[in-house]
Amino acid sequence: MLVKLFGSAVYGVEAITITIEVNVLAGSNYYIVGLPDNAVKESLQRVESAVKSNGLLMPRTKLVVNMAPADLRKSGAAFDLPIAIGTIAASEQLDAVALLEDYIIMGELNLDGTIQPIKGALPIAITARKENFKGLIVPAANAREAAMVNNIHVYGVNHITEVIEFLRNPSSLQPTTVDTRDEFYHSQYDFEFDFSDVKGQHNIKRALEIAAAGGHNAILIGPPGAGKTMLAKRLPTILPPLTLHEALETTKIHSVAGKLPENATLISKRPFRSPHHTVSDAALVGGGGVPQPGEISLAHNGVLFLDELPEFKRTVLEVMRQPMEERKVTISRAKVALDFPSSFMLIASMNPCPCGFYNHPEKECTCPPGAVQKYLNKISGPLLDRIDLHVEVTPVPFSELSGKKTEEGSASIRERVIQAREIQAKRYQQQPGVYANAQMSSKQLKDICVIDHVGANLLKAAMDKLNLSARAYDRILKVSRTIADLAGSENIKPEHLAEAIQYRSLDREGWAG
Ligand SMILES: Nc1ncnc2c1ncn2[C@@H]1O[C@H](COP(=O)(O)OP(=O)(O)O)[C@@H](O)[C@H]1O
Ligand SMILES: [Mg+2]
Repeated sequence: MLVKLFGSAVYGVEAITITIEVNVLAGSNYYIVGLPDNAVKESLQRVESAVKSNGLLMPRTKLVVNMAPADLRKSGAAFDLPIAIGTIAASEQLDAVALLEDYIIMGELNLDGTIQPIKGALPIAITARKENFKGLIVPAANAREAAMVNNIHVYGVNHITEVIEFLRNPSSLQPTTVDTRDEFYHSQYDFEFDFSDVKGQHNIKRALEIAAAGGHNAILIGPPGAGKTMLAKRLPTILPPLTLHEALETTKIHSVAGKLPENATLISKRPFRSPHHTVSDAALVGGGGVPQPGEISLAHNGVLFLDELPEFKRTVLEVMRQPMEERKVTISRAKVALDFPSSFMLIASMNPCPCGFYNHPEKECTCPPGAVQKYLNKISGPLLDRIDLHVEVTPVPFSELSGKKTEEGSASIRERVIQAREIQAKRYQQQPGVYANAQMSSKQLKDICVIDHVGANLLKAAMDKLNLSARAYDRILKVSRTIADLAGSENIKPEHLAEAIQYRSLDREGWAG
């Protein structure tokens, strides 16, 4: 008999309902039609084994599985479970035609009928809810993730026999319930690290506070062991907490990438992604036959940390250029173009030169002439252009490292950041997509970053004396606006400019000149 049931396919960060028809006919052979990829075609092998391992039969005649809409490519093993259930119902071993209409069923099968987690349970649940399905049957490991969505019943299953039993007797399973908001607000601030772990380095902490306050990209430059990685890892702890909306966006991306831990619900903290410098283009920006989000999207609404920036291949960095500008990445495949959001704060680190000790207060740089400039040139220029703050990190002396002095914790730094962000939120109220000073356009810069003649003279003198490049000018103005916001000052004062000027080390002609 002909049976109709529903699955779901994820494209980008959205899910589309897939109708699966299964029929048993006269003839022989099993077929799957409707643009299945190889993994879907192979599904029949797993289905046959899972069915037979559990005392059920496969049809002895012809079996046809049709997946619609036919023009969308279906991929992966997650259609195993609905195909298996459809096969069992179509061969009249399960009487559940009416119930099947109400549910989206997804899961990957092992040969014995146990069920493996799937990718994208969250967007699948969102679409199921929108289309008024009564419920969702998904792998138990994904149940909490799907149950973030309200007003839809989510049933987590570990084995195909549980699904069959449920369809015979729906009271055999209890829906999974999660108090998403409660969990979200409870875990927002339980960070693994804290800025109070870092001894001294007050000027660096100040620079990172400015970066966090204005959403500015930053690069930390210093010798090995100076604490660059340690400092960068703590940046998420001083950023404003995720809003529920941002959390949902970020969680969807991690769901689609299959990167949520088992039993996870809403991501409650800004992500911190730190891809190794050997990362491929596709792993960094996204891609693949079935487009998957890359590191820049996994870092959406959080921090992307490129540790040891000059070690990254130039080409890899250059592919980030467009997505950084547009805050999303578009991946084109034969017929479709998919967008993944990629709005992140970039923080990079680098040694000042190959030996690591150029500009060091105590040690001697042993690099041959020209090596420092060559090293700097390894960084993609367009990427460097998008970094507002250059921060030189020198190691703290041992006496300070071993000292007992308590350092300011992340919570109080974060309070100041949040206040500065509130000022910016008001400023950019009318500008869609702009929420912090880092994003202001050059036109906005002229209107917003007005300086008086004292400031203008100071800036001109500094530009001349330090031989700062023209591109440094706009960066200094933007950063000084953030410094003024942190000070609660309506106007950019000379002292704010003076501080901002310090954060352009790599632009100075003196650097490696
Ligand atoms: N200011 C500091 N306070 C406390 N520990 C520090 C500090 N600076 C460096 N360290 C210690 O030195 C280690 C090396 O620092 P790391 O961040 O890896 O340096 P880098 O990335 O600059 O090479 C850290 O893991 C930490 O244990
Ligand atoms: Mg390091």
